[in-house]
Amino acid sequence: MIEKFLEAKGAVITGGASGFGRGVAYAFAERGADLVLVDINEELLEETSKKVAQKTGKKVIPIICDVSNSKQVKNMRNQAFNELDNVYVLFNNAGIAPGALMNIMRISETNFDSTMNVNLKGQWLVAKFIGRKMKNQKFEDTDLSGKIICNSSDAALTLPAELPAYTLSKVGVVALAKLLAKSLAPKITVNSICPGIHPTGIYLNSVELINNMIKSGNIKIPLERIGTVEDVVNLVVFLTSPASDYITGQCFPVDGGLSLI
Ligand SMILES: NC(=O)c1ccc[n+]([C@@H]2O[C@H](COP(=O)([O-])OP(=O)(O)OC[C@H]3O[C@@H](n4cnc5c(N)ncnc54)[C@H](O)[C@@H]3O)[C@@H](O)[C@H]2O)c1
Repeated sequence: MIEKFLEAKGAVITGGASGFGRGVAYAFAERGADLVLVDINEELLEETSKKVAQKTGKKVIPIICDVSNSKQVKNMRNQAFNELDNVYVLFNNAGIAPGALMNIMRISETNFDSTMNVNLKGQWLVAKFIGRKMKNQKFEDTDLSGKIICNSSDAALTLPAELPAYTLSKVGVVALAKLLAKSLAPKITVNSICPGIHPTGIYLNSVELINNMIKSGNIKIPLERIGTVEDVVNLVVFLTSPASDYITGQCFPVDGGLSLI
């Protein structure tokens, strides 16, 4: 039986149209949350929002917003707090990994800027604008005002040389979560997660592409399988649940042991 610990609570999920964001949207709604799903992919966002609402019977509001644009993020925040009774959870998840694999001495300024803008600045903007309102909320069943989960990556731990801008942005996300945790305590917990290799939009939803990459890069995963969306959803659900109320500022790999090697 699924415990409905998010009943009467609202959640904002960035990058909510696809991959981990979509998986988490179903999981949060199944646990009772009303949702705002944020994305730049209008068509997919519409489709995901409809499907999650149909399956779970919860309110699911799609908002088109580029998380790297402060004006759009502010508007999104205002709309989210208007549509939802509260925003108890933020899954700060939108991210990109643009460009071919390339050494740090060869990446272009455009690639560097776009990656940092979406992956790091975007998470900072969303957490800043939502966190300011989130921290003033009160709930009957908890002393906390909210929970923020930032999606980093295993790259923040293993520092792959062929993904320099992405890696820098994700190291930044781990630090961002710690800094936010210090600032927003004791009202809001903030943690980061580091997924390994999972078939989502970032890998064109292709297990074959991942298997080829693992083979050509001679990548070894100790638990001898690639990750699923569900593996990550389970961790995010834990970090949203009362079972994690005393945890803040921490970084959680969910990578089959990839970062051990
Ligand atoms: N898939 C993996 O193996 C893996 C591993 C480690 C970390 N991650 C991280 O997981 C997060 C989610 O990615 P995913 O793997 O589910 O891929 P995905 O491509 O399926 O989902 C990412 C979503 O973010 C949206 N997005 C991109 N730029 C945006 C912007 N500027 N504003 C708003 N939305 C935007 C995309 O449209 C997409 O729907 C990313 O931060 C990614 O870095 C993924």
